[in-house]
Amino acid sequence: MGLSIRFGFGQLILLVFLSASESARLIGCYKEISNEARLLSGAQQNFKNTLTPEKCISFCKGKGFLYAGLQYSYECFCAKDRPSFIHSADSSDCNSKCDGDKTKICGGGLRLSVYDLVDKPVNYVQPNYVGCYADEGGRRALTGKVAPESQEMTPELCVGFCFRNGYRYAGLQYRNQCYCGEEPLGPRSSEGDCDMECAGDSRFLCGGGWRNSVYQTSIPNESEQGKLIGCFIDSQDLRLLSGFHLDLPETNSPRKCLNICKQLGYSYAGVQYGIECHCGNRKPESEKETNENQCLSSCPDGTRRCGGNWRLLIYSTASVPQPVISGVVQTPNIVVARPEPGVDGTKQPTAVVLAAGSPQAIPVLTLNNPKSTVHTTTRRPTVTPTTRTTTPRYPNTTPTKSCIRSHTLVQGRTVCQGERLFHDSFLGNGLNGNVWTHEVFMPSEPDYEFVVFDNNPQSTYTSDGRLHIKLIPFEDTFVRSGKLELNRCTGRLHTEECIREAKAFSILPPIQSSRITTKNFFSFKYGKVLVRAKLPLGDWIVPEIWLEPKRKIYGPTYSSGKIRIAVARGNRDLISHNRERIGNNMLESGILMGTAERVRGRTVISDNPSGWYKQFHNYTLIWGPDNISFEVDGENREDLLPERGSLSELLGFDSSESAIWQNGSPIAPFDQEFYISLGLSVGGMKDFPDGCITGESHSKPWKNEAVKAMVNFWQDRDNWLSSWNDHYSQLQVEHVSVYAL
Ligand SMILES: *[C@@H]1O[C@H](CO)[C@@H](O)[C@H](O)[C@H]1NC(C)=O
Ligand SMILES: *[C@@H]1O[C@H](CO)[C@@H](O)[C@H](O)[C@H]1NC(C)=O
Ligand SMILES: *[C@@H]1O[C@H](CO)[C@@H](O)[C@H](O)[C@H]1NC(C)=O
Repeated sequence: MGLSIRFGFGQLILLVFLSASESARLIGCYKEISNEARLLSGAQQNFKNTLTPEKCISFCKGKGFLYAGLQYSYECFCAKDRPSFIHSADSSDCNSKCDGDKTKICGGGLRLSVYDLVDKPVNYVQPNYVGCYADEGGRRALTGKVAPESQEMTPELCVGFCFRNGYRYAGLQYRNQCYCGEEPLGPRSSEGDCDMECAGDSRFLCGGGWRNSVYQTSIPNESEQGKLIGCFIDSQDLRLLSGFHLDLPETNSPRKCLNICKQLGYSYAGVQYGIECHCGNRKPESEKETNENQCLSSCPDGTRRCGGNWRLLIYSTASVPQPVISGVVQTPNIVVARPEPGVDGTKQPTAVVLAAGSPQAIPVLTLNNPKSTVHTTTRRPTVTPTTRTTTPRYPNTTPTKSCIRSHTLVQGRTVCQGERLFHDSFLGNGLNGNVWTHEVFMPSEPDYEFVVFDNNPQSTYTSDGRLHIKLIPFEDTFVRSGKLELNRCTGRLHTEECIREAKAFSILPPIQSSRITTKNFFSFKYGKVLVRAKLPLGDWIVPEIWLEPKRKIYGPTYSSGKIRIAVARGNRDLISHNRERIGNNMLESGILMGTAERVRGRTVISDNPSGWYKQFHNYTLIWGPDNISFEVDGENREDLLPERGSLSELLGFDSSESAIWQNGSPIAPFDQEFYISLGLSVGGMKDFPDGCITGESHSKPWKNEAVKAMVNFWQDRDNWLSSWNDHYSQLQVEHVSVYAL
C-alpha cells in the first residue's frame, strides 16, 4: 500500500453570520403554529427580495408592536406579546438567509427568528425558578439531556430547550451551560453561589461553578393509570389530535405526553410512532378505533408502548378543555411515503449506548466577546424555592479509581478512558429506529448529489448482521415528468430539498438512496471510531461514512467541517485530468472544511490495487484534541495534523478566511460534537473532478456547477448503469463502534 497526503479544492458559496440589530435583541428561534394561525399575530408584511432584520424591526416598531419575527426569508410578523417558551425551537431550525441580506438569518420554513424590540430587564421564566442546586459527589444535579453550550444562553432558552425535550427541570450553570432533568438531585445551595451572569444576557443569573440555577418547565408528573382510551388510526390529512405536537426522541412515554398535554390545557394526549406526542381537544371518533396490538411500538426507554405507525395510543388528561394555544394546526400537504406498519418504530433496540460515565467535567470558562456594559443591574432570582429541602439522593462518591477521565465528551459529559460509548452490529431484525434517523431530502447546495435520500426499506435494511444501503433508480418517465414531495422531509421545508417537479432539463434526482445518522441519539467530541464495512463498486457511486457536526457553530455546511472516514469512488478505473488514479483502488480518509469561497480537504490515501470493494475492512478514525489519524485494518496509521499551528493554516486558508475558526482550538472546526452518518450517494458536484475519464476512455458525463449536470448524467445511463450490480454496488456495514480515547 502506498500512502500520500493530498490537498483538495472546491468552490462553495455561502456563509452566514448572525448579528443582532442595534436596538433589538434576538431572543431565539420559534415554531410557527400554522399558515392559518400565526404565533405573532399582530401584523404581517412580506418583503420579497428585500427583507432584513432591520426592515422587519422598524416595520413592527412603526406599528407600535413589541416583538418582530422573521420567517422563510421574506415574511415579517409583529406582536405585542412575547411568544412562550413552549413554542421555542432549536436555533439551528432557523436557517433561511434573508432575501435582502444573505449574511443574515430570517427564520426558516414555519420557523421565526424573533426579536425583542424593547430592552426590558424581565426574566419571563422567573416564576418557574426553584433555587440554586449543587452538583455534588461526582454527580450532576440534573442528569438528562445537555444543551450545547451557547453564548446566547438565557434562562428562557434553557427552559425552552428542556421543555421541548420533555424534561421537568432545567438548570443553568457556569454562564453558558444548560442541563435538563426529571428533578434536581443535588443538595440546595446558598443563593449566593449562583451568581454568574448569563452569557446571553448579563441581567440574569446562570448558576456558578458546579452550581445550577434551576427552573421548572412546569410539566407535571401525574400517572397515566386508568386514563387509556384506546388505539386509534391516525392519518396525515386529518390528525385526530391536532392541537400541539412534539417529538421526544429521548423521553417520550404515555405519562410524559399526558403531562405535557395536561400542562398545556388539552383534554387528550396521544403517543405515536415511538417518539411523537400529540395533544388535542377533539374526542377521538369510535370508528377510528382499532386493536391495541397495533399500538405496540416501543417508547425510547424500550420498556413502554408508544403507539405505532399512524397509530395513536390516546389518553384522557381529564382536565377541563382550556387550550392555551389557539388556532388549528395545519397538517403539511405532503404526500405520504411512510413505511408500512411494523417496518420502523416497532423494533427492539439492537444497539447499545452506554450511559456517559460519572466523572465530571471541570467547567471551562470560555470568554465571550465582552458584552456592552451599559446596563448592569445584576439581578438575583428573588423567588424563594417552592418546596424542596432535598437531602442528597446519592451518597457522596468520588469517581472510582479505575476510571481515568477521557478527553472524549458525549453529549457534553465526560466519560472514562477506553469506555465503549456506542456500538451497533445490526443484528436485530431491522434498523433500530431509536438510534438511527433517516435523512429525508433532495440534496441541494453545496454538493447536489444526484439522489433522493428517503426512508425506503428496500434501500436500507439489515440482514445477516449487516446494514445494507442500496441504490434504486426511478423510472425514466418519473424522472423526466414526475413530482416528488417528501413526507417527513428533514431538509428545508418549502424548498427544492423537500418538493420538486420535473421540468425540461431540470429533472428529479433519478436515484433513491439512504443516509442514516445518529443525530438525535448520539454525538460526541473526540474518540476512536471503528467501522467495519465493504465499500461499493459501480460508476459514480460514493460511499458516505462520515462524522458530521451536531451544531454548526462555525457556520453552515463545510464551515463546521466534516470527517470522511472512508471513501473510495465506485468507478473501477478513474483517471483525473492530471492523470492521477482516483478510482476504487484509492481509499481516501480525511477532513473537509471551508469558507464561503472554498472548501479544502486533507486526506490520507491508501492504494489497494485489487480495489476496496471486494472485502470488508476495518476503518478506524482516532480523533483527539490535537490530532486526527486514520488506520485501515489496524495498520498504516497516518496522522493528519501537524506538530504545531492550526489546521486552518495548515490547509492554506488566509487569516481573513480563518477568522471564523479563530475562537476555536487549533483543530477547529473539529473541536465540537459530531455524529455518525452512513449513506450512499451518486455523482454530485464535489467528488468527481471535471475532466476525469472512467474505464478505457469515457469522459465524465456532466460538468460540476452546470445547470444540466443531473440530466446529462441521467442521459448517459446506458454507460454507467451496467457497471452497477445488486451485490457489489451496495454499502455494507458490519458494525460501528465508538470508544472514549
Ligand atoms: C413521577 O411519578 C412516578 C410514579 O409515581 C415516580 O416513580 C417518579 O419518581 C416521579 N418523578 C418525579 C420526578 O417525581
Ligand atoms: C477487524 O475487526 C474485527 C471485529 O472488530 C476483528 O475481529 C478483526 O480481527 C479485525 N481485522 C483486522 C484485520 O484488524
Ligand atoms: C497523534 O496521535 C498519534 C497516536 O496516538 C501519536 O503517535 C502522535 O504523536 C500524535 N501527534 C500529535 C501531534 O499529537
